[in-house]
Amino acid sequence: MQHLSKSSEPSRDQVWEMFDRIAHRYDTLNRILSGGIDIHWRQKLIQCLPFRPKLKLLDLATGTADILLTFCQAVPGIEHADGMDLSEKMLDIGRHKVQQARLQDVITLSTGDAGAIPAADNVYDAATISFGIRNVPSVSGCLGEMHRVLKPGGRALILEFSTPTNPIFRQAYFTYLRHVLPQIGAKLSGDSYAYRYLNQTIESFPSGQDFADLMIAAGFSNVRYTPLTLGIASIYQGDKR
Ligand SMILES: C[S@@+](CC[C@H](N)C(=O)[O-])C[C@H]1O[C@@H](n2cnc3c(N)ncnc32)[C@H](O)[C@@H]1O
Repeated sequence: MQHLSKSSEPSRDQVWEMFDRIAHRYDTLNRILSGGIDIHWRQKLIQCLPFRPKLKLLDLATGTADILLTFCQAVPGIEHADGMDLSEKMLDIGRHKVQQARLQDVITLSTGDAGAIPAADNVYDAATISFGIRNVPSVSGCLGEMHRVLKPGGRALILEFSTPTNPIFRQAYFTYLRHVLPQIGAKLSGDSYAYRYLNQTIESFPSGQDFADLMIAAGFSNVRYTPLTLGIASIYQGDKR
């Protein structure tokens, strides 16, 4: 595999290598750079889970397993939760957190590509991906894979950065993304590249109805989205018929 250069943008199939490098500081950086708002966003996602007994969940690009830990600590009806990621170092930190929470009988973390999910068709009640779909080589391919592994009636939930619609706020936010966040991120993570990558991908990623249209094209019905915190992030939902 081609080595990830710090001076050029990584191809989307190498992005997980960048997360291997910053894994040891990922959780701390998330809390600092988001001002803790990411915890509130993950809590919001819980309210979107389908109401079913014995839920089987899949979390793609699970990273250090925050989504699954949040879900399993809050929702009693979860039978099993699989978390998949390509970064072994992110998964290792996640496994440690799962053990500390004594949830190792409920949550399994393993290597898995969000673009080629190592799971059979029609097995999960909900498939989630938070701040991960921006990183995969093919967004449509990932959405198609989520649709494939969901049971009929199952739900896809996507939490991702989006573009604020208010022009004044958007300008201020882009200034923060372009000039402030890369400096703080570089200092705290020791990786000058990772937080420049973040702003580039946030600004160019489809947002709002553009992303909803990709979900409809992947076969989801009842597609809807909820902007969070003035549209900095959004939750997208779609059901498999
Ligand atoms: C910004 S982190 C998000 C982690 C976690 N979901 C969260 O909300 O904190 C993005 C994650 O996507 C993973 N990733 C990148 N490309 C991937 C792929 N093709 N398949 C699975 N995971 C991938 C990275 O290794 C990283 O852990």
